[in-house]
Amino acid sequence: MSVKVNCLNPIAECGLEMLTDNYEIVDNVADAEAILVRSAVMHDMDLPDSLLAVARAGAGVNNIPLDKCADKGIVVFNTPGANANGVKELVIASMLLAARDITGGIRWCKDNKDDENIAKSAEKAKKAFAGTEIKGKKLGIIGLGAIGVLVANAANRLGMDVYGCDPYLSVEHALNMSRDVTMVKSNDELFEMCDYLTVHVPLLDSTKGMFNKEAFDKMKDGVVLLNFSRDTLVNEEDLKVALESGKVGKYVVDFPNQTTVNLPNTIVTPHLGASTQESEDNCAKMAVSEIREFIENGNIKNSVNYPNVDAGVCTTEGRIAIAHKNVPNMLTRFTALFAKDNVNIENMVNKSRGDYAYTILDICSDSTDVVVKELEAMDGVIRVRVIK
Ligand code: MLT
Repeated sequence: MSVKVNCLNPIAECGLEMLTDNYEIVDNVADAEAILVRSAVMHDMDLPDSLLAVARAGAGVNNIPLDKCADKGIVVFNTPGANANGVKELVIASMLLAARDITGGIRWCKDNKDDENIAKSAEKAKKAFAGTEIKGKKLGIIGLGAIGVLVANAANRLGMDVYGCDPYLSVEHALNMSRDVTMVKSNDELFEMCDYLTVHVPLLDSTKGMFNKEAFDKMKDGVVLLNFSRDTLVNEEDLKVALESGKVGKYVVDFPNQTTVNLPNTIVTPHLGASTQESEDNCAKMAVSEIREFIENGNIKNSVNYPNVDAGVCTTEGRIAIAHKNVPNMLTRFTALFAKDNVNIENMVNKSRGDYAYTILDICSDSTDVVVKELEAMDGVIRVRVIK
């Protein structure tokens, strides 16, 4: 029987080609065992009981009900880093768009296309579009994940004075970051000294509205704020006031909404950060390989609601994967169940994340229906899958 995959948004062909004959693309979500999604909002969707996994071809997961999925044993994946270069390039371009009135200049040329003396008129008109250079300016990066680090390195190579803040900086990202980037301990330090600020953090309850009056008041006059993460990280009412007063000189945002498109001194792009062939291909390939690894081996890589668990490929007779609550005594009860039937556990991996945990058990015999039913009936067990 093939595994049914539903695509809620168009997914790059090179990713779908990685699905072998054991997979089938289905149109109906109600039949799906796996969902591939980009920006479709899933919060009000009925999640079918058949659904095992959702993979978002992108980094942000605010369109997916993570807790509801975790409660049903549905593992949600994202594709960290897969579109980071695409976003980085647009952030750099946006700094240049903010520093110089390139769009105004382009518009002027279009508006004056019938002027026979346009070459001469341009020399007079151009002073209206003059700007500044980014070299030597201070750039503050809030969030040094895959995107933030690429922006830091690129800006550093362009001669900017780069500062970053990230209390959760990973060793991998730290190792990839130029040593010329100065780390600071708080966003406030960035607010106080930087000419440009760019934000690369996920939208969470704790980050929503983090750019508000209090934050703007701490910033340098005329600061340029770049937002390629999510619009609601910014309190747009407070931002409007800050833009009108000149406290914030320019806002560049990749999320059009009724407010952002009407803000003064604002450049809005239509969520283009990751809209490159390369990013779309990378995201699709990573999302499909995460789904395949989970379906075929039970392993979890890059989940945002369950722990990452890697038990490799099963070399014993049977493998069972259990999504469960992160409460005491679960492992004792699992092992006791197998011991009762004299089934040896050859390998066991257990990891937790917040309220949820995931256990892979490699056993020396086939898993029987009886054992599966007993596991399913245990208090705290959310979902049991026989992988082999
Ligand atoms: C992301 O979350 O990865 C970016 O916003 C790009 C996208 O959503 O496609």
